[in-house]
Amino acid sequence: MGKVIINDQITERSEAVIDIEDRGYQFGDGVYEVIRIYDGSLFTAEEHLNRFYQSAEKIKMIVPFDKKQLRALVEQLVKENQVKDGSLYMQLTRGASPRNHVFPGEEIQPVLTAYTKEVPRPEEAMANGVKAIVVDDIRWLRCDIKSLNLLPNILAKQEASEQGCFEAIQHRNGLVTEGSSSNAYIIKDGKIQTHPATNLILNGITRQVIAKLCAENDIPFSEEPFHIDDLFNADEVFISSTTSEVMPVIQIDEQVIGDGKPGRITSQLQSLFVAKIESDKHNK
Ligand code: PDD
Repeated sequence: MGKVIINDQITERSEAVIDIEDRGYQFGDGVYEVIRIYDGSLFTAEEHLNRFYQSAEKIKMIVPFDKKQLRALVEQLVKENQVKDGSLYMQLTRGASPRNHVFPGEEIQPVLTAYTKEVPRPEEAMANGVKAIVVDDIRWLRCDIKSLNLLPNILAKQEASEQGCFEAIQHRNGLVTEGSSSNAYIIKDGKIQTHPATNLILNGITRQVIAKLCAENDIPFSEEPFHIDDLFNADEVFISSTTSEVMPVIQIDEQVIGDGKPGRITSQLQSLFVAKIESDKHNK
């Protein structure tokens, strides 16, 4: 089963205990991160940890470690679990105290937990592309926070799954925000377009890597909202996330995108992304 982190300790998973009144369990009162592990090392760890601290701050929680300590702790977990290609999940809740919506007093410490698992890269889906559906975005107005509250995302993803699709692409009044667990992009006439990093989306770390790769390689990239009609009429569509990387979308609802195969620019981005993974490994 491997080892896990509880607060500042690394322990066997079978020995880990969480209080039944942990606020993460009762209210979803906490934040999380998912970090990819390639060849035993954490990819874009600094960026994920920065967002973890920002998410915590946005919900008025203080991470009870400095960033260096936390990084050392999660790196130690990856090492002890001997993960090769996988992911690290970490979350911080507002701690355990008798159920009450109001924050507990300062004597209650936040609870940090983390675990790792082996996850292969989704090679086949990335090579062939995936299908998606379009759904209403029924989430709250602080989607920039990586909060534990994922019920609308879960409902959207479940609907996609029941329709044999990989992802649900969400929209507000016709404007596409993002996927249920990914960012969404269209490509039209050589230009990539995605929703700006406002309160309506999570500013994905993969999204930020993609924006940088585009800037370095003269690929036009614009952060402007687009309509679901633009989605259906795009030359190419893709989504991105820590676990899905750059994932081509070849069909949305009944509409085939482009010629139904991953497009040229999406494939180019996939190659650039793999090169970035490789170069980060060598820079360790
Ligand atoms: N999901 N938007 C949403 C709503 C997400 O949940 C995610 C990530 C992203 C992409 O962010 P990033 O590139 O930093 O992974 C965008 C993670 C992987 C998850 O919940 O499992």
